Amino acid sequence: MSLLIAGGVVVDPAQELEEPRDLLLEDGRVAALELPGVIPREGRRVIDATGLFVCPGLIDMHVHLREPGEEYKETVATGTRAAARGGFTAVACMPNTRPVNDQAAVTRFILEQAARHGSARVWPVGALTQGSRGEALCEYGELKAAGCVALSDDGRPVMNSLVMRRALEYARTFDLPVISHAEDLELRADGVMHEGEVAHRLGLKGIPGAAEEVMVYRDIRLAWLAGARLHLAHLSTAGSVAIVREAKMAGLAVTCETAPHYFTLTDEAVAGQGPDALVRPVFDTHAKVNPPLRSRFDREAVIAGLADGTIDVIASDHAPHSVLEKEVEFAEAAFGLIGLETSVGLSLRLVHEGVLPLSRLIALMSTNPARILGLPGGTLKVGAPGDVTVIDLFRPWTVDVNLFASKSRNCPFHGWVLKGKAVLTLRGGEVVWQEE
Ligand code: DOR
Ligand code: ZN
Repeated sequence: MSLLIAGGVVVDPAQELEEPRDLLLEDGRVAALELPGVIPREGRRVIDATGLFVCPGLIDMHVHLREPGEEYKETVATGTRAAARGGFTAVACMPNTRPVNDQAAVTRFILEQAARHGSARVWPVGALTQGSRGEALCEYGELKAAGCVALSDDGRPVMNSLVMRRALEYARTFDLPVISHAEDLELRADGVMHEGEVAHRLGLKGIPGAAEEVMVYRDIRLAWLAGARLHLAHLSTAGSVAIVREAKMAGLAVTCETAPHYFTLTDEAVAGQGPDALVRPVFDTHAKVNPPLRSRFDREAVIAGLADGTIDVIASDHAPHSVLEKEVEFAEAAFGLIGLETSVGLSLRLVHEGVLPLSRLIALMSTNPARILGLPGGTLKVGAPGDVTVIDLFRPWTVDVNLFASKSRNCPFHGWVLKGKAVLTLRGGEVVWQEE
């Protein structure tokens, strides 16, 4: 099979390339990348990418696929279909399934499901501690041998600092990055949204930014002590961004991510966004996420961190929940929102607003996650996997949860009009999603 994607502008930060190029895919890999017109069209399937941007396949390094155990929320099949539809050729899936992915048998099951039903590549993240209870370490060597590319107790922090130190030391011996869910559970207490004026107005219990920041600092300090590679998940506050900026200036091996909701929304979204919200708060449980949507000040700092390179990755933290967990009182609702099918559209707002050049966005969504997790892909160099995302930067579309491939509907962006989306996704040279 020989496929030529012709006439587009190739954006590949790994080669510092942003120019018109024709891309040839053969045997699942990039076979050639040449100036327009150089590669002959005869005998090949040709896709016309005139006016479009041809990018290395996007990688979402923070996704919850819910399989095994919570298949009513999502499965490997539906989650990876949502990924392909959203422009992602690969996802890293967090271990807070049932059972937790804390042993090789679970990792292998996930990979078997992915091989059978996956529309995107699946890279499992193994648990740091058994059952993610924060007590006893898992067998990292076995998890790595089974296919885990990183370790995390995401959804929960490792509260005990000594356990976290040992986890970082042990992960280092296998050269596995540790992904930290930075949250001090004592400080969070029974908070349900960002601690601030909006929580006060709504009469809801708050989660201070400090609940994240003290753990961001602790984990950076412990990673330094252990000589380990640390990646901080879903940063949401100005303080976290400042701490990471300083750590990077000191030369520490730390990377971090944020999610589209943290640079798009603020805690105001909890009170709803429709006309109704002006009259009465609607307590939108789709805006209940952990860490919580923060203040305007925090949002601006996250955007500044994306612009100046402090933040390495945009990941969705796609966290599907059913109506059973969401159509309940705000305080009782589950934390989490889905993001695979809106991540690109929301992130492109930063490009249209002039905050980020497109090449930097592709670095945040492909080059850097590939580098941090040590994955193949993240580039369109000759010989790389034929994983490609073709983006129409200007196509307007309306977010409609009823069209989502995800099983869940917990998305606070329903009805939003966005500009730009992935119109074609190829995994290993095969089309896994194409916009009509
Ligand atoms: O909002 C969240 N949902 N934050 C997390 O850390 C976990 C996730 C989930 O698994 O639902
Ligand atoms: Zn998390």
